[in-house]
Amino acid sequence: MKIAVLPGDGIGPEIVAQAVRVLEVLRTEGLKIEIEAAPLGGAAYDQYGAPYPEFTRKICRAADAVLLGAVGGPQYDTLDRPLRPERGLLGIRKDLGLFANLRPAVLFPELANGSTLKPEVISGLDIMIIRDLTGDIHFGEPRGMRTNDRGEREAFNTMIYTEPEIRRIAHVAFGIAMKRDKKLCSVDKANVLEVSEFWKEIFTDVAREYPQVQLSHMYVDNAAMQLVRNPKQFDVMVTTNLFGDILSDEASMLTGSIGMLASASLNESKKGLYEPSHGSAPDIAGKNVANPLATILSVAMMMRYTFNNIEAADRIENAVKKVLEKGFRTGDIFEPGMQKLSCSGMGNQVVAAL
Ligand code: NAI
Ligand code: MG
Repeated sequence: MKIAVLPGDGIGPEIVAQAVRVLEVLRTEGLKIEIEAAPLGGAAYDQYGAPYPEFTRKICRAADAVLLGAVGGPQYDTLDRPLRPERGLLGIRKDLGLFANLRPAVLFPELANGSTLKPEVISGLDIMIIRDLTGDIHFGEPRGMRTNDRGEREAFNTMIYTEPEIRRIAHVAFGIAMKRDKKLCSVDKANVLEVSEFWKEIFTDVAREYPQVQLSHMYVDNAAMQLVRNPKQFDVMVTTNLFGDILSDEASMLTGSIGMLASASLNESKKGLYEPSHGSAPDIAGKNVANPLATILSVAMMMRYTFNNIEAADRIENAVKKVLEKGFRTGDIFEPGMQKLSCSGMGNQVVAAL
């Protein structure tokens, strides 16, 4: 397992260090893990003058999987756009062809009070949102701003998907549904948009190759409502880039715990970038108080989706569960009566539980 480790900025180095300790436990038990570290984002700009420099590109291309902390920080906000840390993230996504974004929303029962929703609505919640990451209105041409014939200023973007783009994300979605509850909900706006009509047609066609999976379709406005009304009706959801941007953020907040949310972005050869859903949290950087569990759970996703090592994935997730059951909490998920731990303290407990 060749793993590129990109700590990034802010709390990135702190949380990634704890996740690397988890990888080291697996290595001492016999898994063949090779780790190479490289900078990304602001850290890369500081060292190489670019957010995704050649040094980092080489290491990421040679790796099977990439573990990323987070990028960005106020000290980089005044840089020109091409030099900003977020460009490092866009660069690596594009370079590795990472088109499928997987965002699980899982509620650990011990953390039910962190949600704004009623416990009975979210207890046992475990859904996976799959979002296309490289197509749609974000990248469609033509795009721009202009003054029209009537002398009015206007702006426009193009919502577009090719058939191969839809087919490949459909196969990822059905493949993941096969490994879970075999229920897939495809979200679109087919009552209004041709792009959605096409999406629906291709999904219905691909479904014939996965007869065990129950495919349903839902309009995006209804899906937004259903996610807060009765989220447990869903197992795997799949949608386009724009709808997925919004729905995956909505779904992740059902659990209320940003420090607990992992994510993955995959390409066709299952190579993947694994990272917590949160950012670089400059407000708490360098204080050893960040929650490393989202990053540790990202390592579990890496074992599951890139390396197909289900046993290692389950073990990491169970170790996190055990630590929470024992009452250990970082500040962001702390409740009275629990034992408050630092970032590295939480890492110690996960390693011990493993
Ligand atoms: P953020 O996710 O970094 O922070 C939001 C709030 O959640 C803050 O109060 C922070 O302290 C807290 N938080 C986040 N992660 C935490 C953790 N692991 N443990 C405890 N508390 C945690 O989002 P924000 O403040 O909007 O962005 C900060 C920087 O991160 C910006 O430069 C932004 O561009 C960047 N960012 C990077 C992302 C990435 O690398 N994928 C994603 C989102 C934002
Ligand atoms: Mg978003």
